[in-house]
Amino acid sequence: MARWELAFSVDPAVKQPLFVQIAHAISMDVRRGRLRPGDALPGSRTLARSLGVHRNTVLAAYQELTAEGWIETARARGSFVSRDLPDPKPRALPRISPRSDVPARPAYELRHVPEMYRASQGHPPTTLALAGGIPDVRLLPSVELARAYRRVIKAQGSALLGYGDSRGHARLRTGLAQMLSVTRGVAASRDTVLITRGSQMALYLVARALTAPGDLVAVENPGYQPAWEAFRLAGARLLPLSIDSGGANVKELAKLAARGPIRAIYLTPHHQYPTTVTLSAARRIELISFARTHRIAIIEDDYDHEFHYEGRPVLPMASVDDKGAVIYIGTLSKVLAPGLRIGYVVAPPPVIEAIASYRSYVDLQGDLAVEAAVADLLEAGDVQRHIRRARRVYQERRDILAAQLKKQLGSALSFEKPTGGMALWAHVAQEIDLAAWEEQAAHHGVAFQTARRFTFDGRMRPYVRLGFASLGETEITEAVRRMARALKEMPQKGRPRRDQS
Ligand SMILES: Cc1ncc(COP(=O)(O)O)c(C=O)c1O
Repeated sequence: MARWELAFSVDPAVKQPLFVQIAHAISMDVRRGRLRPGDALPGSRTLARSLGVHRNTVLAAYQELTAEGWIETARARGSFVSRDLPDPKPRALPRISPRSDVPARPAYELRHVPEMYRASQGHPPTTLALAGGIPDVRLLPSVELARAYRRVIKAQGSALLGYGDSRGHARLRTGLAQMLSVTRGVAASRDTVLITRGSQMALYLVARALTAPGDLVAVENPGYQPAWEAFRLAGARLLPLSIDSGGANVKELAKLAARGPIRAIYLTPHHQYPTTVTLSAARRIELISFARTHRIAIIEDDYDHEFHYEGRPVLPMASVDDKGAVIYIGTLSKVLAPGLRIGYVVAPPPVIEAIASYRSYVDLQGDLAVEAAVADLLEAGDVQRHIRRARRVYQERRDILAAQLKKQLGSALSFEKPTGGMALWAHVAQEIDLAAWEEQAAHHGVAFQTARRFTFDGRMRPYVRLGFASLGETEITEAVRRMARALKEMPQKGRPRRDQS
């Protein structure tokens, strides 16, 4: 064997670590055939001297080459080029069709399967969806987010890509705790915040930790059906509370309690989902006092706290709770993007620990790298800047939607402009067959939510929920035009009313 002549040098000015440069140069020599299987490599001391580097750097390079399969090290004999070289160019998966002969049916029974909840309705791409509660992800500071992701992976990749804390990344927990106490008056610390994949997971875990089969849970009607389902899946029996202009009718609780001890009350006090009304101050006080007396947990789902357009937001119930009655749930789905899947729970430590335990069996942890990147944006003020901008944009869109509905639909809808949130709740004139309008609208390429999605009995009521946050000005105008066109085409009087009560 001809002696291997060193034909490379290392450069400390290059960003790549020296050991990586050495390993790369040696593997290149193997690929080029300058080193052949079985050839001996110089001893680490010799090579270190020739290259002018520390011996440990060469040892690290040899370790890397061994790990990649380029060289083998025999004790006392030194390092040699492997006889069984790795594939020089790892190939992509061959492009063959996957096996598709999966049995159409299982050979066993499935137990109760809940109806799938589809947050995204899967409309055709040309449909304009006035979807409630969906932010405009086009406004997202995505360049900053991508940079932050790169930064955190580079700096702490090995910690972020391994197993971690089921409560979420400590930096984001701290950042959220600070945000919540500064902007919402909610007492929170790193140890009383748990990060989930969206607030839906928070609801599911809270339901599991709080309720046993048969427990009673009061909910708003109309209300947020996926939360109800999370409680039902934990075995809870639900008690609906009616809604009026002051929010949930908490007076009804006393009567409902006659059916048995109520374990929890699930509410959206800031902007009631779907009607957008705010729970009145008097009812908040009454509710907290009732909950404390009867040892009931109040689950406060504060899903759109940042979006308020007139004056200051009403602070969460959690901000006045000093006795541990409120479990506070929030989300970054509306503030940033639903696809990031970041929600959170704030509660006393034993509750956080219980939720973390349940979580550890479903989803050991969240995406720590994304959580760290978002913490970076939060600390740098990017999230707050984005919120300010989005708030201004959404307020304009709310005004445009309200104006267009008045202009193009006139008396078909009556509503009050919501003071916050991302959707408008409107009453539909009695003579309109809402289910038929919804159907006709779909043919015209516009989608909106009708009341049956939100009612406890699943029946239609004459109301629609129209989201304005995710569409631009011309899209909103066009969406309302399509709604008006669809309505015009419908026979109005004398038509049998379907499904309406
Ligand atoms: C009232 C309410 N709670 C919870 C959620 C769940 O949001 P996510 O799981 O994306 O945080 C939503 C989303 O629309 C909502 O409207």
